[in-house]
Amino acid sequence: MTLIHVPKPWQLPERIVTSEEAFLNRRRFMKTLIGAGIAGSVLPLVGCQQHVTDAEVPLQGTKRLNAAMNPAFAQVDRPVTNELLAATYNNFYEFGGNKNIWKNAQALPTEDWKIEVTGLVNHPRTYDLDDLVTKFPLEERVYRFRCVEAWAMVVPWLGFPMNALLKEVEPTSQAKFVRFTSYFDRNVTKGPTFPPSQFLPFPYHEGLRVDEMANELAFFAVGIYSHTLPKQHGAPIRAVVPWKYGFKGAKSIVKIEFIDTQPATFWNTLSPGEYKFESNVEPEVSHPRWSQKKERLIGSGRDFEWQEVPTTVYNGYGEYVAKLYS
Ligand code: MTE
Repeated sequence: MTLIHVPKPWQLPERIVTSEEAFLNRRRFMKTLIGAGIAGSVLPLVGCQQHVTDAEVPLQGTKRLNAAMNPAFAQVDRPVTNELLAATYNNFYEFGGNKNIWKNAQALPTEDWKIEVTGLVNHPRTYDLDDLVTKFPLEERVYRFRCVEAWAMVVPWLGFPMNALLKEVEPTSQAKFVRFTSYFDRNVTKGPTFPPSQFLPFPYHEGLRVDEMANELAFFAVGIYSHTLPKQHGAPIRAVVPWKYGFKGAKSIVKIEFIDTQPATFWNTLSPGEYKFESNVEPEVSHPRWSQKKERLIGSGRDFEWQEVPTTVYNGYGEYVAKLYS
């Protein structure tokens, strides 16, 4: 496969890629958010110039990362979500129970990050982040992203396929599942006040079957929108599993463990009836609180209103993953 080096639209200064009309629409959109009380910390940005790159605050601490686009995943059937929206509408319960946690997440200490790969593997390893990004060639991929809460985005991730790590550490034949554990330190990650975070089963942990992890779509992201991950997106490394609901993608991973039995997971432990281990995007399988038949595209359409569209099975990735479940 040949990777291609071309400038991506989200890398160009916004005055070049954004028409006057789109810019005005964004300002109206921000006002709507603020009116609805969901923009919170976006407020100071409303008076700013139109450059996304001027939105230093939610993107603080990130560095430009150069990687070629994988042509098989260069685009989807929807536009890429505005970066500022993606960076200010997050789920990261270690830092609070609402979408507006980006400011709290800046407390995440990402220096000298280590990731332990352990359990049923022939070559257990502890990597630091530089090891990972030099050992595994980085590439960019545009994926649909679908949360179980029925909102959806389109995100350009930057990272490497999980399969590359599998080849390196070689799970043994007993390894059937993998468990991802996120960073946790109660003094740093204060969590939501409601429900009180001491009742949440931190550290956040998620899992996959090893054959799901080997699927070509399963990805470790170290970047987004052509730079390193902002902390609120799960810096410095997170899982991305685009045919499953977003909660399967553990953020800020510190441990990857190969095991022979299905691991407990954060949300399943909290509410087993609502969050199954498999959790593929399936319009016909209703969540008790969110019908999954439709999804709302965040920041789409004129004036960036939330457009409602039918949900696609496996989030549109059936050609890659249906075989895993036949
Ligand atoms: N990882 C950790 N460690 N903690 C979390 O609360 N939330 C999950 C997932 N990974 C979560 C997490 C959920 S519910 C979603 S929808 C996605 O992260 C959101 O990713 P984003 O904020 O980068 O869009």
